[in-house]
Amino acid sequence: MAAETSGRANLRQALELAGAHFINLVEIGILKTFIDNKVFDRIPEDGDISFQELANTGESEVALLERFCNYLVAAEILESPSPGRVAHTDRSRAYKTGEIPAGFIQHVFNFLLRPVACWPAYFDENGLAAPKTVNKIPLGLATGYPDSDLYGVLDKEPVLAKLFNGAMRGSAKIYSLNGVYSFDWMKNASSGERPAVVDIGGGSGVALQDIVKDNRFISPESCAVFDLPTVIEDTKSERNGDLHSLQLIGGSMFEALPKSISNSLVYTFRRVLNDFPDEDVVNALEQVRKACAPDSRVLIIEEMLHPNRSKFSIAQDIFVMNFGGKRRSESMFRDLAAKTGFHVSSVVEDKATDFGVVELVPVSEA
Ligand SMILES: C[S@@+](CC[C@H](N)C(=O)[O-])C[C@H]1O[C@@H](n2cnc3c(N)ncnc32)[C@H](O)[C@@H]1O
Repeated sequence: MAAETSGRANLRQALELAGAHFINLVEIGILKTFIDNKVFDRIPEDGDISFQELANTGESEVALLERFCNYLVAAEILESPSPGRVAHTDRSRAYKTGEIPAGFIQHVFNFLLRPVACWPAYFDENGLAAPKTVNKIPLGLATGYPDSDLYGVLDKEPVLAKLFNGAMRGSAKIYSLNGVYSFDWMKNASSGERPAVVDIGGGSGVALQDIVKDNRFISPESCAVFDLPTVIEDTKSERNGDLHSLQLIGGSMFEALPKSISNSLVYTFRRVLNDFPDEDVVNALEQVRKACAPDSRVLIIEEMLHPNRSKFSIAQDIFVMNFGGKRRSESMFRDLAAKTGFHVSSVVEDKATDFGVVELVPVSEA
């Protein structure tokens, strides 16, 4: 009898341990479904709504909504002021369309949960090893494009692309260099007929726009956004007054950079290199190295890996593994710099976040 009781206690303890994961998965599934179907938007800001009214406004099955709402009430995400009715809490309001937590859930579901569900198949096929090339990644397997890289998947899946680009735009402000890295040294550098700042993988140009806005001595005409041709086409079509007169140039960082952006005083890579395995980073840095003048500087703006930091920070390293990327520590960047003819001249980090600026200078070829 005593053995049976202790057996039951052990089972309960084991279920409690693993149960939290089970609950998290159910919760993220329900939240994602409600966000996609705008169910949180349909709950009145003040007052409450019956399951039936909620179902009617969204042409949903009332029985399913009730089951999902029951979970969210038990999880204290929604409130139920009376049987059969639900009301918002501050937590549920955060999942209305356009709110950052809502976008985060969608991003995590698509770019983490879906690939994670394919890890067993991925590791069976590729061995228990991180992706070595961007064309064989868990995200590709999960989305039905097993030979595509992240950007290939996004090209083929416009809905995912919209979510990905939205997440990038939404988090862009975190990476502002204002007060973190000073461009003042450029005032004394030789300028002349050369580019001032080339933002490689600069996408919609927001990072470069900020640099030019915060450092009025840098002329926008001497700066360029360099990105894949399709991205540059999009940027051109969205072009607005804010882009000033930045040059927009299409190409790949894995090939020789165009002459028009050679010799730039500064090259920046913001949130680009951590999406790629080491071999690709070496290739991209080698191409920039060939384009550099002796006084050029290269800025790598990325979230840095700190093995002793929070679980959240380390989890983000695992997250980017799904598309072949990784977070890197200062010493990892030093190794990559040494392999590609650069020297790390400074590393500054934003105190409030994990993002850092690793400045590289070319090592002179003796
Ligand atoms: C995560 S986004 C970051 C965009 C921007 N730098 C920012 O911080 O908002 C990565 C960018 O790298 C670009 N990219 C990917 N592969 C590239 C390549 N081979 N050559 C140039 N840019 C590339 C993508 O198109 C995308 O704009």
